[in-house]
Amino acid sequence: MHIPVLKEEVIRVLSPKRGDFVVDLTAGGGGHSVEFAKRLGKEGILVLIDWDEEMIEKAEEKISEMIDEKDRPEIFFITANFADIDEIFSEIQIDRKPDIFFADLGISSFHLEESLRGFSFRLEGPLDMRISKSIKLTAREVVMNFSERQLADIIYRYGEERLAKKIAKEIVRRRKERDINTTTELAEIVESVYKKTGIYNTKIHPATKTFQALRIFVNRELDNLSDFLQKVAKFVKSGTKIGIISFHSLEDRIVKRTFLSWEKDGLGRRVTKKPIVPSEEEMVINPRSRSAKFRAFEFL
Ligand SMILES: C[S@@+](CC[C@H](N)C(=O)[O-])C[C@H]1O[C@@H](n2cnc3c(N)ncnc32)[C@H](O)[C@@H]1O
Repeated sequence: MHIPVLKEEVIRVLSPKRGDFVVDLTAGGGGHSVEFAKRLGKEGILVLIDWDEEMIEKAEEKISEMIDEKDRPEIFFITANFADIDEIFSEIQIDRKPDIFFADLGISSFHLEESLRGFSFRLEGPLDMRISKSIKLTAREVVMNFSERQLADIIYRYGEERLAKKIAKEIVRRRKERDINTTTELAEIVESVYKKTGIYNTKIHPATKTFQALRIFVNRELDNLSDFLQKVAKFVKSGTKIGIISFHSLEDRIVKRTFLSWEKDGLGRRVTKKPIVPSEEEMVINPRSRSAKFRAFEFL
C-alpha cells in the first residue's frame, strides 16, 4: 500500500482549482494524482508522468477506480523521464501553460515491495534498481565492474556514507571470490563492514545508504531533477506553482538553491521559506514520510 506523503499540505499549498491544468511529474500509484483529479473536474487537464510503465498502469487503474467519469478531467498518461519535459510538451501539444507542476521524488512503496526490481535490501532479488527499463546500467553492473575508487566515490557522494571506502574495498574483495548478484548478498557485505567497525545502529539498516547511493547513481536521479528545473521556466506563466517533495538532503539542496536563485532573479517567490515536513502523526502512520521535505515556488 502506498500512502501519499504530505497529501493535505500539498493540496493546501498548491491549491488546485476547477479547470486548472496540473502536471504530476511522478504519478507513481496515483495517490496525489487522484487528489488533483478530484479538484480539477471536467474542465481541467491532468498530465501524469512516470518513468516506469508499470506505475503509469497503476495510476490509470487508481484514477478510473476513484474518479467518476462524469467529472473526470482530460488525462494524459505518459511514460517518460520528467527531465525530458520539453519533449513531453511537444508531444502532448496543449496550447495552455500549466497552473501546477508537482513531483514526489524517488521510488514508491510498490517498487520496494517488488523483490524483482532489486530496490530493497530486505527482500532477496536481482541487483537491478532501474526505475525504467530504458536505463542500460543495472546496480549489479556497477557493483561488479566499477573500480574500488569509483564505488567509494558513488557510495560517499550519493549515500553520504562515511564508511564508503571500507565498503568499496570489501565489495571488490568479495567479488573476486564470487559474483555479487543479489540485493541480500550486497546487504550482507555492507553489514559485515559495519560489524567489523563496531558502529551498528539497530534502527537503521547498515545497507540503507549504500542502496540509496546505487539507486541514485543508476537512475541519475540528481541530474534528472536539475535538468527538469533548468528547463521548466519555459513552460510556466504568471501564477504557475511548482511543488516538490524530496527525501534526502542532496535532492532538497538542489530544490532549495534553485528556488532561491529564481527568487533572486525576480522570477517569483518561494511559497515555503522553510520546507514543510510531516507531522509526528503522519510519520507514525507512514514511516516512508520520515525524511520528506516539501518546498513550493510561485512564478510571477
Ligand atoms: C514516490 S513515488 C510517487 C508516488 C505518488 N505521488 C503517489 O502518491 O502514489 C515516485 C515515482 O516517481 C517515479 N520517477 C522517479 N524518477 C522519475 C523520473 N525521472 N521521471 C519520471 N518519473 C520518475 C518513480 O517511478 C515512482 O513511481
